[in-house]
Amino acid sequence: MVTIDWNNLPFGYIKTDYNVRCFYTDGKWSKPELSDSEYINVHIAATALHYGQESFEGLKAYRGKDGKIRIFRWEENAARMISSAEGIKMAPVPMELFREAIFTAIKKNERFVPPYGSGASLYIRPLLYGSGAEVGVKPAAEYTFIVFVTPVGPYFKGGVKPVNMLICRDVDRAAPQGTGRFKIGGNYAASLRAIVRAHDEGFGNVIFLDAKEKKYIDECGPANFFGIKNNTYVTPLSESILPSITNKSLLALAENMGIKTERRPIPVEELSEFEETGACGTAAVISPIAKIVDADENRIYEFCKDGKPGPVSMKLYQKLVNIQYGDEPDIFGWNTFIE
Ligand SMILES: Cc1ncc(COP(=O)(O)O)c(C=O)c1O
Repeated sequence: MVTIDWNNLPFGYIKTDYNVRCFYTDGKWSKPELSDSEYINVHIAATALHYGQESFEGLKAYRGKDGKIRIFRWEENAARMISSAEGIKMAPVPMELFREAIFTAIKKNERFVPPYGSGASLYIRPLLYGSGAEVGVKPAAEYTFIVFVTPVGPYFKGGVKPVNMLICRDVDRAAPQGTGRFKIGGNYAASLRAIVRAHDEGFGNVIFLDAKEKKYIDECGPANFFGIKNNTYVTPLSESILPSITNKSLLALAENMGIKTERRPIPVEELSEFEETGACGTAAVISPIAKIVDADENRIYEFCKDGKPGPVSMKLYQKLVNIQYGDEPDIFGWNTFIE
């Protein structure tokens, strides 16, 4: 049996013992089945391959000091996957089936849930795709739902570090009335050329603007954006961004901590007014932003001038991570225990 160095886990894929698979045929979902294979057999005419009928989710399970395993807000991911499925005309995975599949995947791979204190967690990746064969452009009649898990290290090794972001005007991740609010592969494919360019130029990621007017901030690569000013947490309101569960949680925590919240369009120039900015998502919880470069407008917006993350971002970050690991009371009832 391979031994895992829990303290030095990458944020990447490691093979675990089992994954869980369900099949939708004749209008019905099958019971979850266990598989120990990392491979799938896909029909050459599956709609996932040709017409992008594919959606995925990402959530995490954490081991607390008490040894218990907690999953964070799985119902939100289940609901978002239903919305994504409806958005691209796939058969949705019912909540109860989603629950059974992810709980089974975690239980059967319990030895891969990292120990408390390592900063690592078990990443859960549900995947839904059109597996039925079609040649004309139409939804498949058959679907496959798979859940695999993999242990991941903390996003920032050795503590949270501010990152630099590049504003992008010549690539759109999602159209105003397109599929940006669904978690589907096509949005990620559309974002890759901007993300790769930003990485090549030494940036942590890219900031996409609204596709119609290029006036407002949409998303930060695979994460939502937020800014802090005058004790207010401000985050974009847009039809083309993914409704982040981390962002939703940070909004609730901010309110609870006496920080005002606003969800509204954020014009690019407002960046000069923020005291702190950051990207938020399951992977890193919060990535504080040090610098945002707007090369087209010849402007640089700087935050964290001392190289350290801002105090409000760190307070929110710590509070959320403490709830996820069970170090603070779960005041909103976000965690579900795996018995
Ligand atoms: C495009 C995009 N936006 C935002 C997020 C953050 O969402 P969540 O907090 O639910 O992980 C993600 C990651 O899932 C993402 O891929």
